[in-house]
Amino acid sequence: MRIRCGKSQANSEVQMHCIPHTPPSQHAPNWLPKPRFQAFSSLATTISPLAGYPDYLLVDVALPGPPSSLVFLSDLHWNGRELPRFQRLANAIRNLEPDWLVFGGDACVFMDTVPGALEWLASLTAKRGRIAVLGNREAQIPWLDHDFWKDLYQRIGWTCLFNEVLDTGDGPLFFGTEDARYGHPDWNPVQQFFAISGTRPVISISHNPDTAADQPTSTFLGNLILCGHTHGGQFNFPILGPLYTSSRYGRQFYHGWAEREDGTLMLTSSGIGESGFGFLHHRLHCPPEIVRIQFHS
Ligand SMILES: [Fe+2]
Repeated sequence: MRIRCGKSQANSEVQMHCIPHTPPSQHAPNWLPKPRFQAFSSLATTISPLAGYPDYLLVDVALPGPPSSLVFLSDLHWNGRELPRFQRLANAIRNLEPDWLVFGGDACVFMDTVPGALEWLASLTAKRGRIAVLGNREAQIPWLDHDFWKDLYQRIGWTCLFNEVLDTGDGPLFFGTEDARYGHPDWNPVQQFFAISGTRPVISISHNPDTAADQPTSTFLGNLILCGHTHGGQFNFPILGPLYTSSRYGRQFYHGWAEREDGTLMLTSSGIGESGFGFLHHRLHCPPEIVRIQFHS
């Protein structure tokens, strides 16, 4: 696997709401203390805010598989503001011309921001398919069931997965989980695809990294798990790190790479939107980012 941290455009402003936080209480011993791939998080967090936040950091990942490309973004937290930044971001994503576009959830802040969030997602393009999972922001609305969200995403040309596998034929195989906090994640549907994981990439999408961290090593999680939710800490002090991470595992999976003892990789992105109130409604030493995976035979 090859990782390269890309550059981005300069000057953007950032903001947003707050997610209920559970203090860290767990540690997953079956994940290695030092994953092989650290470049992403360390580079991302050393960008100086004095130089102006970038619209995004582009993280490039190379994986074995039938030649194609995938762009992953998460945590839009659409609030109807910052339109110029999100317009630039949409343009940048379209210019990457990915085969697959994957969204990791938390599209909106509240229900009334769902239409704007979906309009923005609809404006993004991919050559072969667009796949999403729900975040806690959507999953916590108790009167909206899976059919509602599936239909909504289908209307804008996206496929929303709830503990389901999407077999793309000759491309990657995608598995999307329900949200850890307000859903019922179930990894059983992807177990049968362990046998093909050596020949075709199996990419799992889980809004919250806790969903994967909760599993024993005997559970197949795919070749790579793409997560968001934690916003990379969002408000990170130099040296000291984040104020909190919104993960039951504290800082174990809050940003960047994690590697399980069997070689399974998990990438937790800082996402593109923000949450929080007042002065915490910003990013500090934690630029927004998108991930591009390029499969090579
Ligand atoms: Fe989020």
